[in-house]
Amino acid sequence: MSELNTDAFWMPFTPNRAYKAAPRIVERAEGIYLTTDTGRQIIDATAGLWCSNAGHCRAEIADAIHRQAQTLDYSSIFNFGHELGFQYAERLIKHTPDGLNKVFFGNSGSEAVETALKIALQYQRARGKGERKILIGREKGYHGVNFGGISVGGLPPNFQAFGQPLQVAHLPHTLDIERNAFSRGLPEHGVELADELERLVNFHGAERIAAVMVEPFAGAGGVILPPKGYLKRLREICDKHDLLLIFDEVITGWGRMGSAFASIEFDVIPDMITSAKGITNATVPLGAVFVKDGIYNTVMDAAPEGTVEFFHGYTYSAHPVACAAGMATLDIYEREGLLTRAGGDIGKHWENALHSLADMDNVIDVRNYGLAGAVELRAPENLKGKVGGKASAMAWEAGVMARGIGDAICMSPPLIIEAHEIDTIVEKLRGVIGSLA
Ligand SMILES: Cc1ncc(COP(=O)(O)O)c(C=O)c1O
Repeated sequence: MSELNTDAFWMPFTPNRAYKAAPRIVERAEGIYLTTDTGRQIIDATAGLWCSNAGHCRAEIADAIHRQAQTLDYSSIFNFGHELGFQYAERLIKHTPDGLNKVFFGNSGSEAVETALKIALQYQRARGKGERKILIGREKGYHGVNFGGISVGGLPPNFQAFGQPLQVAHLPHTLDIERNAFSRGLPEHGVELADELERLVNFHGAERIAAVMVEPFAGAGGVILPPKGYLKRLREICDKHDLLLIFDEVITGWGRMGSAFASIEFDVIPDMITSAKGITNATVPLGAVFVKDGIYNTVMDAAPEGTVEFFHGYTYSAHPVACAAGMATLDIYEREGLLTRAGGDIGKHWENALHSLADMDNVIDVRNYGLAGAVELRAPENLKGKVGGKASAMAWEAGVMARGIGDAICMSPPLIIEAHEIDTIVEKLRGVIGSLA
């Protein structure tokens, strides 16, 4: 094979110059395994970017994509439709929490976030409360990279160069290693952090706030779980002040936490849910917002009959090939019980395996829920915030794809993973962490 030229591709969220000096190339994938261009087998302990939930290269999804591309590859979705889009939406809402029965399609998590924020503003306006424009996010939150998402998002490197152009305020994050280190599942301490929402409401005035958007657990912020009772408290405060609550379930949706959605797992029903990634098992880009009927009806009723009610949409909203991939993905999730598998024995095994690393001197926290987890490492002063990246690079050499975030190693393996494969991941991580000590 001729030498690979890496010049033209400006890589996302990657130190391009360092990467191009020593490219790591993945050539094939199957199940939970990746194969590199040098023939090495790597366990994909992150399911790509928290998204290949049913494992890689599932033949029936590939077949569905192929068939759809030969039948109806594309047709305008503004003012026209295709059956598959409607059928897929009906199928999706069989899995959403009660009352979230409307689906708006986009192509990514970022677009789902922008769509949800715009629906929130449109809804407030439709019910005569157009002055409600402030959007509340949370520190360490990640909601994609578009301007709405970086405004409500709470990861400074993602907005520092661009600003946060929407009217926003932020809740404090819920990472509290001092009080909650080595929690199994949801941490005990920190429900009171939700009361900060009361403070923001007092400060800004409820009559100026449109919505609150949080991830049920902060993924890209470093697998930060909500303290027990926290999400319920947020819901109560939103209800008290008539604020919309949006859960960004781009990661937590589709089985990651042991239920189809974290909202179901934690029994807290938001007004909207954003989704992407696992919705198509990451085979074809697709994002969606699930919306409460009342919001949809209010927006419909506010517009004169025969007019466009919501000036928003994408060329590829409900792209037929993405819908076909999504349908085939749901077939697998439903047939193989993957939406609840993480809540069973395999999730327990994951928890025990990750927590077995707690005996290592330089492990200062282990966090887990369902099939997501993080191992937080002690960082020497000169390496603060960089140890996760170092560990991730070493894990790759050891045969595991794991994500470094700050000083944590973060993982979210495919939901099909078996116990012995979890053991292999943890054994390899033990080696990596040991050599970092
Ligand atoms: C919670 C959350 N929201 C939104 C996004 C953005 O999704 P995308 O990269 O598909 O735009 C992500 C991506 O990781 C995410 O984790």
